Amino acid sequence: MVSKVRIGIVGSRFQADCIATSVKAMPEEMEVVAVASPTKGNAEAFAQRHAIPRFYSDYREMLSDPEIEMISITAPNRLHAQMTIDAARAGKHVVCEKPLCVTLEEADAMIDACAKAGVLLMYAEELFFAPKYVKAKQMADEGAFGRIHLVKQGEKHSGPHSEWFWDVNQSGGGALMDLGCHGIAFCWWFLGKQKIKSVYAQLSTQVNAARTQGDDEAITIIEFENGAVGMVESSWNRPGGMDDSIEVFGDKGQTYADMLMGNALPTYSEVGFGYAVEKAASTKGWTYPVFEEHWNYGFPQEMRHFARCVRGKETPISDGETGRVVQEVLYAAYASAGLGRKIALPFRPRGIAKPIDLWKKPELARAAL
Ligand SMILES: NC(=O)c1ccc[n+]([C@@H]2O[C@H](COP(=O)([O-])OP(=O)(O)OC[C@H]3O[C@@H](n4cnc5c(N)ncnc54)[C@H](O)[C@@H]3O)[C@@H](O)[C@H]2O)c1
Repeated sequence: MVSKVRIGIVGSRFQADCIATSVKAMPEEMEVVAVASPTKGNAEAFAQRHAIPRFYSDYREMLSDPEIEMISITAPNRLHAQMTIDAARAGKHVVCEKPLCVTLEEADAMIDACAKAGVLLMYAEELFFAPKYVKAKQMADEGAFGRIHLVKQGEKHSGPHSEWFWDVNQSGGGALMDLGCHGIAFCWWFLGKQKIKSVYAQLSTQVNAARTQGDDEAITIIEFENGAVGMVESSWNRPGGMDDSIEVFGDKGQTYADMLMGNALPTYSEVGFGYAVEKAASTKGWTYPVFEEHWNYGFPQEMRHFARCVRGKETPISDGETGRVVQEVLYAAYASAGLGRKIALPFRPRGIAKPIDLWKKPELARAAL
């Protein structure tokens, strides 16, 4: 019998909890054996909460643990590149949370480091594993909708839970970077990973100008080589809990999938209850409590796939290249908003400190054309 893939998690808060819980849901393939997080007490508390045997305050120490085969990076965006490179050098396979990193140079360096070390770089885009969306793609691939000309994805909530997301120096951008990266990857995957011709984006800071330099509303339009269009709506201004949905249109049909509210229990309660859905501020009145939240997103299925890739049983459907495609579209979208025009791909300006600079300093975008 082949042993379980042994995982070390970097980070101990929101996404780390999601990954640890998801790994436990697929115990036949993998297990978390260590966690690393710098804030005193956090790694230990996390280890206790999830029954993980070892904890570290420095992730580099965890990387020298010979038992660990795969690292799951759930730290802020600005740390993804260095952590991936360090993990690759230590001979560990890497699962990196979205967005892959901050700059295109970082994406290249991460891909190179993993290739040189002979380890896998897997990009954690769970929408490729969300059961409802997988079903939509299976029907599309069967031809159920004929020739698809439009794929829409929207992700909207009331704004991130941690301060670093709001600081563009740590995140690299706003709602587009944080939520739009899902929709960009989704449309690209849904339409068969074909070449992207151009990107157009409309960005604004509608509600949170006092809190962030980042965009809190984003609409991104992606033109694909075969003429199909992807449309991605990203918002940090939707109270009432997380919303994630898709629409697919072809000349022979269409489908709609609302991942959370579409699976939820329409509920009315005058007194409230413990938990409804991610980022719902209240459970009183009408709410849409979800069940099997991680499963509906596809997180356990994603981690199972990655563990099977480490064992050579499957080939990653989301890898460093996927993350780099998304990163290039993010650059193009910010540049498009800066210049007020479509940006043709390839678009790979060098020396940009963070994607949002291409919106805030249009001269950088102009110089890159
Ligand atoms: N796939 C998804 O849907 C999804 C959802 C949420 C977050 N994410 C991504 O996961 C990453 C983390 O987001 P989060 O929501 O968990 O943020 P968070 O603020 O809740 O947690 C960040 C964690 O990183 C740790 N950290 C900071 N510096 C570190 C260091 N030097 N070494 C080790 N750990 C360090 C913090 O201690 C904390 O535990 C982000 O890139 C985010 O975009 C993905």
